[in-house]
Amino acid sequence: MSAGFPHQHLLSIDQLDATEVTQILDAAAAFIEVSRRPVRKVPTLRGKTVINMFFEASTRTRTSFELAGKRLSADVVNISGSGSSLSKGESLLDTCRTVAAMQPDIVVIRHSASGAPQFVAQRLECSVVNGGDGAHEHPTQALLDAFAIRQALGTLSGLKVAICGDISHSRVARSNAALLRLFGSEVRFCAPRTLMPSRAETLGVKVFHRLDDALEGADVIMLLRIQRERLEGPLIPSLREYSRVYGVSQHHLELASERAIVMHPGPMNRGVEIHPALADSDRSLVLDQVEAGVAVRMAVLYLLSRGISAETVAQAARDGG
Ligand code: CP
Repeated sequence: MSAGFPHQHLLSIDQLDATEVTQILDAAAAFIEVSRRPVRKVPTLRGKTVINMFFEASTRTRTSFELAGKRLSADVVNISGSGSSLSKGESLLDTCRTVAAMQPDIVVIRHSASGAPQFVAQRLECSVVNGGDGAHEHPTQALLDAFAIRQALGTLSGLKVAICGDISHSRVARSNAALLRLFGSEVRFCAPRTLMPSRAETLGVKVFHRLDDALEGADVIMLLRIQRERLEGPLIPSLREYSRVYGVSQHHLELASERAIVMHPGPMNRGVEIHPALADSDRSLVLDQVEAGVAVRMAVLYLLSRGISAETVAQAARDGG
């Protein structure tokens, strides 16, 4: 695609290597300063158009993509499932063709169907970013998590990362496992057997069913919510029973490494997978993850639309665009 960033789309962590992930994180490190200024705007994407197509609920991803585009001075338009002609029966393909006729530079799509962003990318000429597809991938979530981990622990290499919760329905777990393995970190999945994908080991992770075993020596504890909207049938006895066995509280930190940090992609079910006191503790990175989300999405929009090097991004942020 370009000399700086060699991809037209961002659909999956699997398409990236460690150098490209680092390129995105370094660009985000430059852009995070823009969000901390009194005037949070640079003119770098003036004249570009970003369309956010969110056909599933979202607070963090949709808002941060919108802010990311606006802070870069792009024109940003949001389409939701209920507010679009999809609710009148228009197909995803016809919706995509309609959007393409408006000449966007980048389309960000979230959809309940795994593979929907790939389907769209094959049919539009513009760049497409996966904002979360079914239980498949959420690449910008993994990138912002990596940014927050690197900021807190100084590295993405050689870590023990315990990802605990509803793994089988989690696109966050898959994307994080793929990214962290690029840097040689050990990824542990922990869930009851009913919420663990079959053959999870083929993702290159260690599989645990006992929380205490998964947390032993962990540098990062990443908690996932029970995805009630995707649960079919009685996969857990009750939320209370799940919380009793798999809920993480501050006392669990004694099992983990001394520097252990606690993460959650949100939205949190307080009192289910995470005790409220732990969510609000100084070991929690939950709000750092949200802040990182804007910066990482600025970096992704910038690199995809401009296709220039991370050094140039840093210079653009220093110069105010
Ligand atoms: N983490 C995440 O994707 O949150 P939203 O569903 O609010 O976008």
